Amino acid sequence: MARRLTLVTASVLPFLSFSTALSLDTTNPVTITQAATSIANSLMTTYHNPNSTAGDFNQPQPWFWWLSGSGWTALLDYTVYTADTTHKPALLAALAENLGPNLDFAPAEQASWEANDDQAYWLYGALTALEYGFDEPTPGVWLAAANNVFSKFVARWAADAATCGGGLKWQFDPAANGFFYKNSVTNGGFFQTAARLARYSAAAAGGNTTYADWARTVWDWSTGAGFVAADYSVYDGASDEGTDNCTTINGIQWSYNVATYLHGAANMYAYTGAVGLVDEQAVWATRVQGLVDAANRTFFSPPDGSAPGVMYEQFCEPTASCTIDQTSFKSSLSRWLGKTAILVPGVKDQIMSLLATSAGRAAGSCTDAASGAVSCGMKWWAPEGFDGYTDFGSMLSALEVVQSLLVGNAPALATLTPAA
Ligand SMILES: *[C@@H]1O[C@H](CO)[C@@H](O)[C@H](O)[C@H]1NC(C)=O
Ligand SMILES: *[C@@H]1O[C@H](CO)[C@@H](O)[C@H](O)[C@H]1NC(C)=O
Ligand SMILES: *[C@@H]1O[C@H](CO)[C@@H](O)[C@H](O)[C@H]1NC(C)=O
Ligand SMILES: *[C@@H]1O[C@H](CO)[C@@H](O)[C@H](O)[C@H]1NC(C)=O
Repeated sequence: MARRLTLVTASVLPFLSFSTALSLDTTNPVTITQAATSIANSLMTTYHNPNSTAGDFNQPQPWFWWLSGSGWTALLDYTVYTADTTHKPALLAALAENLGPNLDFAPAEQASWEANDDQAYWLYGALTALEYGFDEPTPGVWLAAANNVFSKFVARWAADAATCGGGLKWQFDPAANGFFYKNSVTNGGFFQTAARLARYSAAAAGGNTTYADWARTVWDWSTGAGFVAADYSVYDGASDEGTDNCTTINGIQWSYNVATYLHGAANMYAYTGAVGLVDEQAVWATRVQGLVDAANRTFFSPPDGSAPGVMYEQFCEPTASCTIDQTSFKSSLSRWLGKTAILVPGVKDQIMSLLATSAGRAAGSCTDAASGAVSCGMKWWAPEGFDGYTDFGSMLSALEVVQSLLVGNAPALATLTPAA
């Protein structure tokens, strides 16, 4: 399933030496917007296919449907951050097509292998559409989808309760490979979903704390199980097969895992502030800070010390072994760092500094700027700029880190209005 990176050296691609990289002044919103537009247009030109059952993007085999969901979420943010509505019809069509008959992002084409985290990654698009007030294919559908997926997670949590003292399994289909694994992208996904719904609906909930209570439950379980460690490192997961019972943690750290919990914690910070839970808000502030520091510690010191502060996927980039979904994980970290900077002012300067350093190098990794379709590389810390590798995930990562510099342009996240 994993495809190895094939690094093409500069001697094989001599044109590299005179290709043009994207130029980006990270202090100038005009050049940030131009760079983001160039990458977004290139992503669409190269990969968009409304007929693709891999989520309306063409992807090499094996197709990762969840990755397309992440791509559309990036373009939702792009539309809001840059006010360029070029891709809005395509993204609204993709969300509508992949909602499925039960409005829960479980379309028939993905049956038999779709997992909880895939469903969460598509739901993030609907949550983003809800938070930024995007047009709905039918009235109320974004919130309905969020509630439908949330309810599925609640039910599956109960179904999975026999092992590990709680926690969602990665897969919800018992026949699927990976059914006996509880992991951070899944439980962080439930946590983030509950936290975003809690923040969104706080004013209208009339004291109903269902969403926030689930967010607290999933956080507490995640720390208790050791998925989120005392120093806020976020580990990948643990087996619950046979008598395993999550006793042996898989300690690999992927950037999207810490990011998933970070954005959930930021929403709980906002939620507890909105409902006047001052003491609890201080606790979430500490957690947000801890997760930001853990992200900085783990994902911003690439090898050889030549590019401090430049984001990298620490487990696979140094060995050029990232698979075609792992190349996209930095897009999740960039996206949710940016959104956290807005929700939690205390970490804003730290986050914007990390994003700016990384975005400058990410833009420098995008080659052929003169051709109209740029290719953004994987190793932003590569001294030569473009490292010779590009795919959907590396394009998405570059888009997110660049456009997240504009997150301050976005309107305040919407909240549900109390019924009159
Ligand atoms: C999508 O399918 C339609 C109908 O079969 C076809 O006309 C169109 O060219 C296809 N588009 C792409 C991008 O493959
Ligand atoms: C499995 O782990 C949970 C949480 O630590 C614990 O409560 C439970 O007793 C364990 N089950 C077994 C069979 O050891
Ligand atoms: C509280 O909100 C949840 C989530 O929307 C809902 O399922 C539940 O019915 C509500 N409870 C009450 C008592 O209204
Ligand atoms: C990130 O961590 C490094 C130490 O590893 C520290 O020097 C740097 O100031 C931190 N950067 C931010 C923005 O927090």
